[in-house]
Amino acid sequence: MVKAKPRRLREHWGSRFGFILAATGSAIGLGNIWKFPYITGEHGGAAFVVVYLICIIIIGLPVMMAELAVGRTAQRNPVGAYKVIRPGTGWFLVGGLGVLAGFVILSYYSVVAGWVMAYVFKAITGAVTRFTADAGGAAAAKGHFESFAARPGLSVLWHFVFMAICTFIIFRGVRSGIEAASKILMPVLIAILLVLVVWSLALPGSAAGVRFYLVPKITTVDVGPLSIPFFQGLTWSAVLIALGHAFFSLSLGMGAMLTYGSYLERNADLSFSTATIAVADTVIALLAGLALLPAVFAMGLAPDGGPGLLFHTLPAVFASMPGGFVFAILFFVLVALAAITSGISVLEVVTAFTIGEMGWRRRVAAPVIGAIIFVIGIPSALSFGAMDKFRLFGLNFFDVMDYLSANFFLPLGGLLIALFVGWGWGPKAIKAAAEGSYHGFPTGRIWLWMCRTITPLAVAAIIVAKVAGVG
Ligand code: TRP
Repeated sequence: MVKAKPRRLREHWGSRFGFILAATGSAIGLGNIWKFPYITGEHGGAAFVVVYLICIIIIGLPVMMAELAVGRTAQRNPVGAYKVIRPGTGWFLVGGLGVLAGFVILSYYSVVAGWVMAYVFKAITGAVTRFTADAGGAAAAKGHFESFAARPGLSVLWHFVFMAICTFIIFRGVRSGIEAASKILMPVLIAILLVLVVWSLALPGSAAGVRFYLVPKITTVDVGPLSIPFFQGLTWSAVLIALGHAFFSLSLGMGAMLTYGSYLERNADLSFSTATIAVADTVIALLAGLALLPAVFAMGLAPDGGPGLLFHTLPAVFASMPGGFVFAILFFVLVALAAITSGISVLEVVTAFTIGEMGWRRRVAAPVIGAIIFVIGIPSALSFGAMDKFRLFGLNFFDVMDYLSANFFLPLGGLLIALFVGWGWGPKAIKAAAEGSYHGFPTGRIWLWMCRTITPLAVAAIIVAKVAGVG
């Protein structure tokens, strides 16, 4: 058994509900509202959504529970946690990989969050709702976004503002602020999304978008004498991106959930928390897709508009809505807040690492790390303007950061933590995780079995298939 006692001074969540809110706040963010709709648009729509949901169930849920269980048991940061549970082994390197991924992820996440904050001000000045709700208006909104994102001073400034806010919150400590803010935030965000969904579905021409988003196109593939129905046009690249996004959206694979789990009391429930976080996160993503993609089609935009899709589409939607001016402000404020509750969870991983393993004080760690991440993010902030010509594999710097971290770092981190639970920690994991959990259902055994078999195998198979270039 694990010997280390939770250190006296370790801060814990104010309540269990507070933990669920903070963890849900980490999961729900730009991944749901900005990224999910645009990658779904780029990778074929409904089939991509189906693959994404499968990844959430067979990979996301077990990995989420694994991170929470390791964090709760060890009461340590991602590197220290493995040292406590399996001293003298190399497992702590898994935590180190996560800490590195944290720098990369937050560096470009902050750039998008900066765009959202800039749009709060644009909404207040009416600049967002000036467009007409038709193809011409949407094209103008797209042009407006592109020239905004290309301005080096503005992108870097807003990136700085977002990093400063996250740094300040983490400087003050996990509990103060995070829990309280999330309580009001989520319900209002869901309400606004629902209004947007209804409005978007009512736009003439939206039906094509609904079909694209929800009805997979099926074709048959001949395997020897058999004709097997399969998704038309689904590629391994798309599957890898769906997998990567399941990790990204649930905040998995780099120790964020592990770190939040480490602030849980030892007897706090895990299985119910896992399910709640995953369901809330998935519902918000699905709603965001349903708010955006039908509107994209109704406005005559292309679904593969890339990282700017949200900013191309919604201004014209708001412009056409009664009360759109107010909704636009509210929407961008809420998305900015959702980005903050996610951004801080990434920053907290790196901060907890320097505090726990390097003996830094929180008040030193937060500003130093915040500053480093700000600097790493500058090329991403310049990627849509000054540094547009810089390309690797045809992608700009921002896209490279996003592609590598979401689709390789996180799945690899998740694969390793599943292997750790399944094989490194083994049956003791069930006992450790069972405390306060399960509600009479054999969750523990199913979970351990998944961590041993299909979860790591599925992740490995997808990465290998993509790297080997099978379709
Ligand atoms: N899940 C968040 C979102 O969807 C982003 C995020 C927060 C994240 N913490 C993370 C992604 C840790 C990966 C790992 O916007």
